[in-house]
Amino acid sequence: MQRIGVIPGDGVGPEVIAEARKVLDAVAEKRNLALEFEEFPLGASHFLKTDEVLSDETLQRLSKKDALLLGAMGDPRVKPGILEKGVLLRLRFHFDQYVNLRPVKLMEGVPSPLRSDAGRIDLQFIRENTEDFYVGLGGRVKKGLSKTELDLKRRTYEAKFDVGIELEDEEELAFQIGAITRHGARRIMEYAFQMAKSKGIEPVTCVDKANVLTDAYGIWREAAEEVSGRLGVKKEFQYVDAVALHMVRTPDRFKMIVAPNLFGDILTDLGAALQGGLGFAPSGNINPSGVSMFEPVHGSAPDIAGKGLANPIGAILSASLMLESLGQKPAAADVERAVQGVLRAGKHRTADVGGKTSTSKMGDAVVAVILK
Ligand code: IPM
Ligand code: MG
Repeated sequence: MQRIGVIPGDGVGPEVIAEARKVLDAVAEKRNLALEFEEFPLGASHFLKTDEVLSDETLQRLSKKDALLLGAMGDPRVKPGILEKGVLLRLRFHFDQYVNLRPVKLMEGVPSPLRSDAGRIDLQFIRENTEDFYVGLGGRVKKGLSKTELDLKRRTYEAKFDVGIELEDEEELAFQIGAITRHGARRIMEYAFQMAKSKGIEPVTCVDKANVLTDAYGIWREAAEEVSGRLGVKKEFQYVDAVALHMVRTPDRFKMIVAPNLFGDILTDLGAALQGGLGFAPSGNINPSGVSMFEPVHGSAPDIAGKGLANPIGAILSASLMLESLGQKPAAADVERAVQGVLRAGKHRTADVGGKTSTSKMGDAVVAVILK
């Protein structure tokens, strides 16, 4: 029995998760898998009703699950940051899901924004998911002397910062600290280079901005050097601006990209565009020895929520990544193949790519292929 915690969340989250659930039920039937689902109502409505963002008790219950499946977080009724940081980032950090795996694959039948000779877009995008500028350390100070105490608490370490600022000739200053630990950089490199080795991918493209942010990305580079040498897998270093350019001009030159958290956030939206749009992009927040969480890359898209317009493919492919991480490879492959089949056939397309198929009809089409 594998226990899955489901967090449909906000906006289009519940709609796309309903389709992922349908697909999981179908593949479970076909492969005789025992999957048990429990829903958790986290998100804007729950917060407005109960004041709970994410309680310790809920975390405790989620920690008993084998995996989590999440729709989306964020709602115009709630100030930006409360749910994103309070639920999504808190879950990633609490469960130490240090890998954000975001495969970028342009499937046959999906219109690409690039020239038709762009080549085969199929790359593993690995984003570090717990550090960098996402650590949430910062502050705002006014002219004169100030002292800010900041605390970075992670599962495996704690760092306390005492920031004393003497601000002259300026009325206010805001600062944000990015932090990368050697352990944090090393473990994401290990995950990436191991995967590259097992898939026969070379070189691994390591992204940074080490020509400007020399300290944070200095340690990042050292970790890449070390792990690449130890595992005997070639790497190349590229600055984030150049990677953005090459991802558009020659996306087929990349097979694996590993990026720090913030650059990874930005580049994976670009990656999603390359695979046809945010609606097609899946992701996994992975702790290889803990509770992992799977979610489409897209957000809650409140403007189209409740209208049956959302593309559920990103959520369905996230469910496939979840099956794979639960050790259910054949079932994961069934789901991916079914999605490919539906897209290739071209009969069903959601509104984001100019079609008329509703969210639930899209899910039905995938289910029909699985059960065929
Ligand atoms: C993503 C999202 C999140 C992130 C937001 C909602 C906090 O953009 O998963 O890419 O920045 O990680
Ligand atoms: Mg993002």
